[in-house]
Amino acid sequence: MSKQILILAGDGIGPEIVTAAEKVLTAVNHKFNLNLDWEHGLLGGAAIDQYGEPYPKETSDQAKKADAILLGAVGGPKWDQIERSIRPERGLLKIRSELNLFANLRPAILYPQLASASSLKPEIVAGLDILIVRELTGGIYFGQPRGIRELENGEKQGYNTDVYSESEIKRIAKVAFDLASLRGGKVCSVDKANVLEVTELWKQTVSQEHAENYSNIQLSHMYVDNAAMQLVRAPKQFDVIVTGNLFGDILSDEAAMLTGSIGMLPSASLDENGKGMYEPCHGSAPDIAGKDIANPLATILSVAMMLRYTFKEEAAAKAIEEAVGTVLDQGLRTADIYSEGMKKVGTAAMGEAVVNAL
Ligand code: IPM
Ligand code: MG
Repeated sequence: MSKQILILAGDGIGPEIVTAAEKVLTAVNHKFNLNLDWEHGLLGGAAIDQYGEPYPKETSDQAKKADAILLGAVGGPKWDQIERSIRPERGLLKIRSELNLFANLRPAILYPQLASASSLKPEIVAGLDILIVRELTGGIYFGQPRGIRELENGEKQGYNTDVYSESEIKRIAKVAFDLASLRGGKVCSVDKANVLEVTELWKQTVSQEHAENYSNIQLSHMYVDNAAMQLVRAPKQFDVIVTGNLFGDILSDEAAMLTGSIGMLPSASLDENGKGMYEPCHGSAPDIAGKDIANPLATILSVAMMLRYTFKEEAAAKAIEEAVGTVLDQGLRTADIYSEGMKKVGTAAMGEAVVNAL
């Protein structure tokens, strides 16, 4: 039986970058005889336009039966004014939560060919290879109560709740430790335990899991403000960073930019059984949508992560990553990673080049 992928192109540049990635998927499926099959569905603004909600039952049914999901990006100004509970981003949070995709893996790898694209000095970022493991289905993103209420004096007050249970912390810590054992053997757990009780428990629980089951891993703890600073001061001190939903959201954008362009970075969001949703770390970039200038490489590299983590097709995953290396060696650059002397190409042409390199 073939394995099923659900493709959700989403909004903004989503459809363009996903089209490019789909061509790569077709090529790799054929070349490695992967027996993958896929269909398309709607998420975010595209789903709101069609069904009036960002994660409709139709998409949910498709998502539940798929083995893996490839997502473009969601959101845009067109839907900014609609009621908060049905905005595009809520669709993304809902699918993460419904499918229990609690482990978000966000690698920040500097391609040597792009060293000059980083805003940091080459010696600070050369060879950078960090993996951020972000908890994705808990914390302040989902904690109750939440909302905007009116106080007695008529003033409005916004409120959210940051909450983590021991089991939630433990399972994400395990993911981080397991992944660290396959790479540099170091985990840095990021918290704000000097102020927030929820992260005090985070720190304790990570330490406990480490002591009980992962003494082979080198564990350190860091406050989030310091981590933000260390990431630009000396990013190579990190191997795996594990943190909660909100801190992970922020630090992963920061880590991404160390590599020169967020347009290069893929991500995986996994459940306990390896089912996953794969998406670029960047957003829907509505300002450049439809212009054939967006960088499809993060989405293409997300396909590689899908092959590696859900389908256990390491050779095919590597082939995509090497093909991306080849097109960079050829000097092909989309606008976001362009530098003088290189050859500027559009979204579709970049996708084609990866297919040819494959
Ligand atoms: C991300 C994005 C999302 C998040 C938004 C679009 C809801 O920023 O995946 O990092 O905050 O998780
Ligand atoms: Mg983000």
